[in-house]
Amino acid sequence: MEKTSEKKTVLVTGASSGIGQGIAIGFGQLGARVIVNYHSDKEGAQYTLNKITASGGEGFIHQADVSSEDEVQAMYAKAVDAYGPLDVLINNAGIQKDSSFSNMSLDEWNAVIKTNLTGQFLCAREAIRLFEQKPDVGDNDKSKGNIIFISSVHDVIPWAGHVNYASSKGGISMLMKSLALEVAQKKIRVNCISPGAIATDINDDVWKDKEKMAELLKLIPYKRIGQPEDIAKAAIWLASDESDYVTGTTIYVDGGMTLYPGFLENG
Ligand code: BGC
Repeated sequence: MEKTSEKKTVLVTGASSGIGQGIAIGFGQLGARVIVNYHSDKEGAQYTLNKITASGGEGFIHQADVSSEDEVQAMYAKAVDAYGPLDVLINNAGIQKDSSFSNMSLDEWNAVIKTNLTGQFLCAREAIRLFEQKPDVGDNDKSKGNIIFISSVHDVIPWAGHVNYASSKGGISMLMKSLALEVAQKKIRVNCISPGAIATDINDDVWKDKEKMAELLKLIPYKRIGQPEDIAKAAIWLASDESDYVTGTTIYVDGGMTLYPGFLENG
C-alpha cells in the first residue's frame, strides 16, 4: 500500500482480531491515526496498535461494548479529545452464535442482533453527529466523512443454522442504504463491504480442518479463502477520495461466493 501524507483519523470497531485488525493495520501503514476499539481481547488490540505504530501510524486502544450507548459515546468523546473530528468509521465489530432455529435461545438471538446491528447503529450515529458538526463543504468538494459498514455475504446469501447472524447482516444492508440516502446531501458517504470467507477466528473451526476447508472451497469460485488484507484494501479505497462518487453501495469481497457457485456445472 502506498504511503500518503494525508493523516486520516479512523475508528475501527472490533479491531483486536480478524478483519477489524487487518483494516486497522492497513490504515496504520498509511500513517493514519487509528482508534483501536476492542471488547474483551486487550492483548489482541495491543498487537494491532503495535503494528500500526511500527509502520508509521499512531493511535490508541479503547475498550467499549459497541452495543452500549454510554460506552460508545465515551469512546467517541475520547477520540475527539485526542484527535478532533473523525474522518472514517469502520463499523466492523460482529459476532456469531450459531444454532439450529428451533434450538436458538432468545439470548443467542439478542446477543447477535445487539452487537452486529444495534452496535453498528450506535457507532454510525455518533460518527454522523460528528460529521454533521464539520463545516459545510461545496457540492463539488470531496466528502467530509465516511462510514464503512462491514457486513457479510450473508446479507444476501441465506445461511441455515445462522438465522440470527444472517438477519443482522441483512439489517445492516438496509441500515447502510437508508442512512446513505439521508446524509448524501451533507457530503457524507456511507458504504458497505460484504466479505465472504475470510480466515479469522470466527471461522477457524472450518479453515483449520482439511475436510471442512475442501467443502468450503466448493463455495468459492476463486478457489482460495480470503485474508483480512483483502478487506483492508477495499476499505482503504472506499475511505479515500478515489471513491468519492461511491455511496450507498455494497462491495462483495468474496472470491465469487455470491455468484451461485452451484450453477457452475448445473442448472
Ligand atoms: C462468516 C464466516 C463465514 C463466511 C462465509 C462470514 O460472514 O462470519 O463464518 O465463513 O461468512 O460463509
